[in-house]
Amino acid sequence: MPIDAANPVPPSYPRRAGPDQIPPHVPKELIRTSGIPTGEAFLAGPHDFMARMHQDFPPIFYDVGDYGNAWQFIKHEDALFALRHWEHFSNEGATPFPRDPNDYFYFIPIEIDPPQHRKYRNIVDPLFSPKGVLKLEGLIRQRARDLLDDVADKGECEFTEAFGRPLPVSVFLDIMGLPQDMRDTFVEWAIDLLHGKDRESMGRAMQNIVAYIKQAIAEKKAHPDEGVVSRITHAAPDGMPLSDKEIFGFVIFLFIGGLDTVFATLNNIWLWLARNPDRVQEIIARPNDLDAIVEELLRRWSVTFSGRVVAQDIEMRGVQMKKGDRITCVLPACNFDPDVFPNPLEVDFDRPRRTILAFTVGVHSCMGSHLARLELKIALQEWLRRIPQFAVKQDAQIVYRPGGVVGPESVPLVW
Ligand code: HEM
Repeated sequence: MPIDAANPVPPSYPRRAGPDQIPPHVPKELIRTSGIPTGEAFLAGPHDFMARMHQDFPPIFYDVGDYGNAWQFIKHEDALFALRHWEHFSNEGATPFPRDPNDYFYFIPIEIDPPQHRKYRNIVDPLFSPKGVLKLEGLIRQRARDLLDDVADKGECEFTEAFGRPLPVSVFLDIMGLPQDMRDTFVEWAIDLLHGKDRESMGRAMQNIVAYIKQAIAEKKAHPDEGVVSRITHAAPDGMPLSDKEIFGFVIFLFIGGLDTVFATLNNIWLWLARNPDRVQEIIARPNDLDAIVEELLRRWSVTFSGRVVAQDIEMRGVQMKKGDRITCVLPACNFDPDVFPNPLEVDFDRPRRTILAFTVGVHSCMGSHLARLELKIALQEWLRRIPQFAVKQDAQIVYRPGGVVGPESVPLVW
């Protein structure tokens, strides 16, 4: 049955978690407990851990954990297949975020399978196309410069607070047409939702976000503007206005998809830059190669995962997966697949171009990918122009946050 986003119903597929909920068709030899994304070994160095998966785990295995049980795909080829074949791997009910079953809504467009999916993307895709985001270049650059004005002469900063978070969040608020004074509150909610220690704190964060966004939509209904929230609120694909639940599910997903991902990416990259001053100088010396540099950095430091639900029984690599099973494409591991990216942990700006999976592929490929690339490019240009030499503060403890978006909690820098 095609999904009807105007009349959402909670998915009937079970959300299995823990060793007592392993379906009988899963062979014992494929059962593992990887500890992604909360285990000690994972958090000690998530990207190294995910690169090592190609030695330590079968290419497809059944991961058992408190957050949920799911088949894990770590081969580039397998993830490409899953992400391109929505008829086998559905997005309905595939996100982990808790919702009130009595007031259910879909996260749009991520939980909508084709063909309905396209109508939602058409509403905002033009704003987020390569051409669309280029219009934002001046604004992003100005925001980056303003932040650097505050910090460049200080000789030190906590990167995340001073630059990594406020840059993408303030740009996001501008695009959405939401007030800048909500910046820090937004960051806090996003962190609690995506990195909450338990489902309770995630649920609380969700309640706050829900209340704020409902009020913002009501305001845009009354006072339309050029921002994305207003555009979605007043959209009428095929002449039919969106229902309140569709508007809400769309706006709230942009909030979830568009904040934490960018600042986690920046954090990972700046930590690496601070530890590799010779590579910083290489980047500065190759201004014309910045697009390739950004692409390689996104491969090396991809931050998230793609979940799907098996829509019809399927066998891959001799593994039988059944309708209703969950799968997770471990995107960073796929970006470290040595069959596609030799010496995968090496940052090599001259690698032959291959499809990277930081933003996935297929119908659900990241809507914000061009914006994220541009933000990263401008962040590199502006930061390295003002602060070309910097290092991690002595004795700083680098701690990775548990959760679905991988990155260090803080990155204390000195220069
Ligand atoms: C470096 C930053 C980012 C990363 C690594 C990232 C990653 C991803 C990934 C992996 C997906 C696909 C998820 C899946 O297939 O299950 C996705 C989807 C999406 N992202 Fe991003 N994202 C980033 C930035 C952004 C930004 C800035 C926005 C919006 C302003 C955004 C909005 C979206 C939306 C709306 C989708 C769903 C697309 C669909 O279902 O059609 N993302 N993102």
